[in-house]
Amino acid sequence: MMKGSFPTIAFQSLQTPFYYYDLDLLQRTLKEIRTQASEPHFHVHYAMKACVHPAVLKTICEAGLGADCVSGGEIEAALAAGIPAERIVYAGVGKADWEIKLALANDIYCFNAESEAELEVINALAAEMGKTARIALRVNPNVDAHTHRYITTGLEENKFGIDLSQVGHVAVSVKTMPNLKLVGLHFHIGSQITDMMPFQNLCVRINELQDMLAQKGIYVKDINVGGGLGINYEHPNHCPIADFEGYFRVFRKHLQLRENQNLHFELGRSVVAPCGTLVTRVLYVKKGLHKQFAVVDAGMTDLIRPALYQAFHRIENLTSRAPEEVYDVVGPICESSDVFVKDYPMAGTRRGDLLAIRSAGAYGEVMASRYNLRKLPASYTSADL
Ligand code: LLP
Repeated sequence: MMKGSFPTIAFQSLQTPFYYYDLDLLQRTLKEIRTQASEPHFHVHYAMKACVHPAVLKTICEAGLGADCVSGGEIEAALAAGIPAERIVYAGVGKADWEIKLALANDIYCFNAESEAELEVINALAAEMGKTARIALRVNPNVDAHTHRYITTGLEENKFGIDLSQVGHVAVSVKTMPNLKLVGLHFHIGSQITDMMPFQNLCVRINELQDMLAQKGIYVKDINVGGGLGINYEHPNHCPIADFEGYFRVFRKHLQLRENQNLHFELGRSVVAPCGTLVTRVLYVKKGLHKQFAVVDAGMTDLIRPALYQAFHRIENLTSRAPEEVYDVVGPICESSDVFVKDYPMAGTRRGDLLAIRSAGAYGEVMASRYNLRKLPASYTSADL
């Protein structure tokens, strides 16, 4: 099978497991985003939650993207990476007082607010600090993203956003809060979406909502459609860059923006997933009764996506050219769910081989834990090796 190109010789001397970020692929991805979203009223914010490796953030900042943050920690990391406060938006269903104050003190662009209760708190804290907070109402558009249920967010049953039927009322009540300024509407339907139809459905919902609000005399200058564009986990070598062309085209074609409206996007996975790889060493090849297991030194603590979402990540043996055999690739954690892939054909594998677990740049390193008192994985970029 075709393998990605990696500095395997440099990898040999490093302690595994570790994350490796290909900054060249990241640059090419960012260039494609700039090309496909070149309109001056399109603003792409990178969803920080996907990956916060400093060199990755620096590259993204240099490409001119803003940041979509979901915690005070992410706001601090975005500012530290050089992303200007006026390009930072802040979402989250449970913003703590210190986080709201941090955002106000730094004059970030906008709060994506999720409830009336939250608006009252932001208004009170802004008043204490003598500030006015810009607000986008996060609307739950009730659009099915047809993705894994743990990463679908825009359905009535999810905890996110303000119900469509309540948006008009909440928008009117924001106007009565003196330290808030309503600037936008925010939406996000889910993640790892590769079929463009849900995005088209979102556009239709937004158009309807804007018509309804116009009847109440409400106009906002920003529409934020969130993130969610998926990547090809099956074929990272053939399709290393997500379909940004198709994605931006949907909004250009189906979303009816009002005069002078800006369109904001919050892309995470599609920006960074393909450029990250989890590199792990085979500890043992264990022959079971009906199966053989490649037991590796990375586990669900380093990359939880397979265990949590039954996600597929392609795995390549970087150091073997032996004929393919079938393996379950498993980690060392004391949990049956600590499996990267089952019944998987891979070059004949031995103790000491290096495996590349691909497309792990998003929601990989950031979701690592120290369960079993393991060490957090190290990380390197193509510039380090
Ligand atoms: N905006 C909001 C409001 C979000 O909640 C998210 C992701 C994004 C933007 C970025 O979405 P993206 O472009 O990355 O799809 N840990 C899961 C994914 C969780 C996504 C959470 N929200 C995974 O590993 O699949």
